[in-house]
Amino acid sequence: MKRVAVFTSGGDAPGMNACIRAVVRGAVYHGVEVFGIRRGYNGMINGDIFPMTSHSVSNIVQRGGTILKSARSKEFMTPEGRKKAYDQLMSHGIEGLIAVGGNGTFTGALKFFEEYQIPTVGAPGTIDNDLYGTDYTIGYDTAVNTALEAIDKIRDTADSHDRVFFIEVMGRDSGYIAIQSGIAGGAELVMVPEVLTPIPEVVETLKQGWSRSKSSSIIIVAEGDVEGNAVVLAEQIREQVGVDIDMRVTTLGHIQRGGVPTAYDRILASRLGLGALEGLLEGQKNVMAGIVNNELIYTPFIDTIKLPKPINEDLLRMVRILSV
Ligand code: F6P
Repeated sequence: MKRVAVFTSGGDAPGMNACIRAVVRGAVYHGVEVFGIRRGYNGMINGDIFPMTSHSVSNIVQRGGTILKSARSKEFMTPEGRKKAYDQLMSHGIEGLIAVGGNGTFTGALKFFEEYQIPTVGAPGTIDNDLYGTDYTIGYDTAVNTALEAIDKIRDTADSHDRVFFIEVMGRDSGYIAIQSGIAGGAELVMVPEVLTPIPEVVETLKQGWSRSKSSSIIIVAEGDVEGNAVVLAEQIREQVGVDIDMRVTTLGHIQRGGVPTAYDRILASRLGLGALEGLLEGQKNVMAGIVNNELIYTPFIDTIKLPKPINEDLLRMVRILSV
């Protein structure tokens, strides 16, 4: 393979730049030409494709976001969109792709291969950590630390005012950010979509806390856990508690997607970027590079898309034990 291209797609994640850097510098090391594609599949369709050199990725290892920009492409979901993308890749002589993203990104790559046999190797880039085939995804550690910093600050004011706080963190279908930031932040309860907590149980936890003279409580809610949002959930709980509680809701939102990547994320992203590139050059296709038990492995896209990544229920149990 003489010419490859790299792109980022789906929700951005801190560490994506470190990953791009590893792909580009790895390609230079192996004597392979490397192109960047801007705005994910949209850029592939529109021909926003440009040659990259070692210098293109100078001074980015420490930056959040993605220098290649990111998008969720509706057009790539259509056969016409994929045809345009294929024509653009052919006109640039690109023989293989490195896709940094999540589920949606890999679903697109798989469909593309079925139609046009362009091999893709993925690197898991999403703050949600919801991909089977890797212990951690790029951006997750930074997002947890960002959420934690906010939780610590909210704890101060919750304590001063004897309040109950519901803090909604990201995780469309996944409670990973919730569980780790909740443990580290000493939350009273963590609510995740993988193991639903019935409202009466939340009420009971609050009441038990008050009976032990707890003056403030923090409940972390993964966005995927609630129908509507944490505001709706908090209102339902207020109704069931039966006493007037001083309660506030904070949604952390997209702050969790930005910021300087942690050392952990930079190192993980570098390993996965180089691993994805070298896998592609060795003939891998339709697989995601991941790190499991500190070993680089490749997992078929279909498994990363279809297989669930179970949450460690022992951790949920621990939250309950430790919040007494
Ligand atoms: O990147 C994943 C994620 O952060 C989810 O947790 C969240 O539901 C979603 O992205 C929101 O993304 P956007 O606002 O870009 O649609």
